[in-house]
Amino acid sequence: MTPRQILIDTDPGQDDAIAILLALASPELEVLGITTVAGNVPLRLTSRNARIICELAGRSDIPVYAGADKPLQRALVTAEFVHGKSGLDGITLPEPQMPLREGHAVNFLIETLMAREGVTVCALGPLTNIALALQKEPRIAQRIERIVLMGGGYFEGGNITPAAEFNFYVDPQAAAQVFAAGIPITMAPLDVTHQALTTRPRIAALRALGNRVGEAAAAWMEFFERFDEEKYGQEGGPLHDPCVIAWLLKPELFTGRRCNVEIETGSELTLGMSVVDWWGVTRRPQNALVLGGIDADGYFRLITERLGVLP
Ligand code: BDR
Ligand code: CA
Repeated sequence: MTPRQILIDTDPGQDDAIAILLALASPELEVLGITTVAGNVPLRLTSRNARIICELAGRSDIPVYAGADKPLQRALVTAEFVHGKSGLDGITLPEPQMPLREGHAVNFLIETLMAREGVTVCALGPLTNIALALQKEPRIAQRIERIVLMGGGYFEGGNITPAAEFNFYVDPQAAAQVFAAGIPITMAPLDVTHQALTTRPRIAALRALGNRVGEAAAAWMEFFERFDEEKYGQEGGPLHDPCVIAWLLKPELFTGRRCNVEIETGSELTLGMSVVDWWGVTRRPQNALVLGGIDADGYFRLITERLGVLP
């Protein structure tokens, strides 16, 4: 089996961290590099956190490049109220020893995509780096195998405003450009991630792995579920970003359909909203596979099994 080559663009974030660990633990995937973007916390911290996660997994060989420190047009909005001051609150881990690679993430993305065939881009944060790469080298649109991203919501609405999900709200212009680029897209929206809750037994199963990665994953889930439990009045919080990696590993865990997705960039009230034509009421092109259902037990089983092989 030749592993699928992936690039991970991310703003860690505890759920980004678990997504990265899931990818690093999976022999079906070859992580070519990690690019960081400002989102959950500012770029300096997402770049630090990405390296902490690689070192936790014993993978200081993974190249990590820093990218955009702000959205294309808007001022940066962050989410420390969910993820804590560091973005990875929940457990204290050593400061990273591995350096950031020299050069801008956007150049690394372009060079990698132009040099290799069949690379999949996994986007776990605001889409600023991907949009900048498309602006600088439009030919990458034909070379990207697929973008698998976490973002948006339709029946579920938004989580940062009533209409918009965080990643699309932070950089709506970037999201709109990515959806208009003609690249095959798989979108994991809030509708799916809100079915994947970090319940106590699921957290306990991770902790019971007995390795340091399992302990960190359990501690991170416990940290951000506190906020979500209070907000949504349910047991556990939605574990968003690992859906992207899980779909690559086991698409049979998900249901979805191809439809048109457009991102609102004009309205102040609904800025960043994903308008998903789930019922096919327009003739607009089907530009994304939009996920709608998930086997949540299977999803957490996959994460737990895989994280068990890490240190
Ligand atoms: C998304 O926003 C971030 O807070 C999470 O990491 C996830 O990517 C969920 O809306
Ligand atoms: Ca994220």
